[in-house]
Amino acid sequence: MKPLSRRAALTLGGLGVAGTVVGGAGLLWSRQPDQSVGPDAAPAPLSGYVGGEPLRQPPELRSTDGLLEVQLEAAPGPAVIGGRTVTVLAYNKGLPGPTLRLQPGDRVRVGLRNGLAEATNLHVHGLHVSPTDNGDNPFVMVEPGATFDYDYRLPPDHPPGLFWYHPHHHGLVADQIFGGLYGAIVIDDSEPLPVARERVLVISDFTPGGAAGVASVGQAERMRGREGRLVLVNGQLKPDIGIRPGECERWRIVNSCVSRYLRLSLAGQGLQLLGLDSGRFETPRDVEEVLLAPGNRADLLVTAAATGTTTTTHSTLRALPYDRGSAGMGGMMGGSSPSTATLDLASVTVSGEPVPAASAFPRQPAPRDLRGAAVTARRELAFAMGMGMGGGGMRFTINGESFDGDRTDTTVQTGSVEEWLLSNSSPMDHPLHLHVWPMQLIEQNGRAVEAVQWQDVVNVPAGGTARVRIAFDDFPGRTVYHCHILDHEDLGMMGVIEARGGPAPGAG
Ligand code: C2O
Ligand code: CU
Ligand code: CU
Repeated sequence: MKPLSRRAALTLGGLGVAGTVVGGAGLLWSRQPDQSVGPDAAPAPLSGYVGGEPLRQPPELRSTDGLLEVQLEAAPGPAVIGGRTVTVLAYNKGLPGPTLRLQPGDRVRVGLRNGLAEATNLHVHGLHVSPTDNGDNPFVMVEPGATFDYDYRLPPDHPPGLFWYHPHHHGLVADQIFGGLYGAIVIDDSEPLPVARERVLVISDFTPGGAAGVASVGQAERMRGREGRLVLVNGQLKPDIGIRPGECERWRIVNSCVSRYLRLSLAGQGLQLLGLDSGRFETPRDVEEVLLAPGNRADLLVTAAATGTTTTTHSTLRALPYDRGSAGMGGMMGGSSPSTATLDLASVTVSGEPVPAASAFPRQPAPRDLRGAAVTARRELAFAMGMGMGGGGMRFTINGESFDGDRTDTTVQTGSVEEWLLSNSSPMDHPLHLHVWPMQLIEQNGRAVEAVQWQDVVNVPAGGTARVRIAFDDFPGRTVYHCHILDHEDLGMMGVIEARGGPAPGAG
């Protein structure tokens, strides 16, 4: 791979990297001559940015007596990343925004003030709350300068875990998240787990655009799904995490990248997965790596190697290569995705007095399993990318349609259990995200999934399938499902779902 000069690197994002040639039956895409992102030219990380500071935690806002009231302002502003001052978009001037720490049953009131130059709104990703009115309603629009008061009510049996918030204004989602608008939501366990420390790791990617702000991206990068040139943990470049030998920490990790898949590894330390998204396994699973599609979260136990000595050792939290496919057209579209390189995300320094082995881990409640449930409806969501006729460019569709907020694509009954076959005829992976209702992953590429696994983002592999079951227990209303490569969502890979009927018995 030919290294790019920093100057070239910084301008790449702003280039229109594809030109259009009108062909007989539609459009052909061709690369412009000055375009240097070839099939294996993954953009090099930017130089001149220095990492290594201790990992920070975002400020935390906690509910008291069942209520959290928060003012959130989304606005552009300066941030120091890797020792340089850059312009980002941020909630309450923080990168990430504050962590909201909640209990099941809480009411959360968020006054969102839009300090951006364009419309925005707020989505609480993964929360099982009503999508109507001023709940988790993706159709709300907050104009520049305006304020909107959201009011979320968590059911008393809401699952604990890590969730997150981000803007959801169709057409602008990728730009705004890429700019820095994201924050974590933690719903506490009823019994705290026996760990020495808990950390939140919000992983995002970003390309600075100098004083002018966040780098803009061209059409080909949007089609491929943009990947930022800096990968940040809590807004920091390669921060350092200090831990004592034998110590067990709980890391709650969210993939807030617009398009980048994170195949995480931490060689040399013990890793156990407690769960993904809001799903929790009965007992932690030993893992070597964890794959997070954009939007996914991992609840991870990290046990530092017990060296028996006080020598300091180091290891590295890495994102390993993951091939999520290319936008196709015989490589004309810019080739494979950039995440085909290994990236160092954070360093882990093990030092100090060894601590004795942690107490045995409490068994978690057995998760609900829909494999034995009576399925009331089956449907297929077919993900496709195709050339538009008459100047529309590449179309990103679900069941042949691009997003139209006035159309309802899928109608379900509250109280029903549905099975969805997710199929993908395109040469790129598409991670499906459904709002409000989590999905139980039943099958991937025709192979049954053994464990009970609940996720709210399910990867649909290039040319492959996934099968999920969903219990629409409660919350009538209209909301959306979409590809969580947010450039694809903005390009139309989103549908509207409406749940009809009264709330199921027992639901609040
Ligand atoms: Cu994380 Cu509809 O989004
Ligand atoms: Cu969501
Ligand atoms: Cu996609």
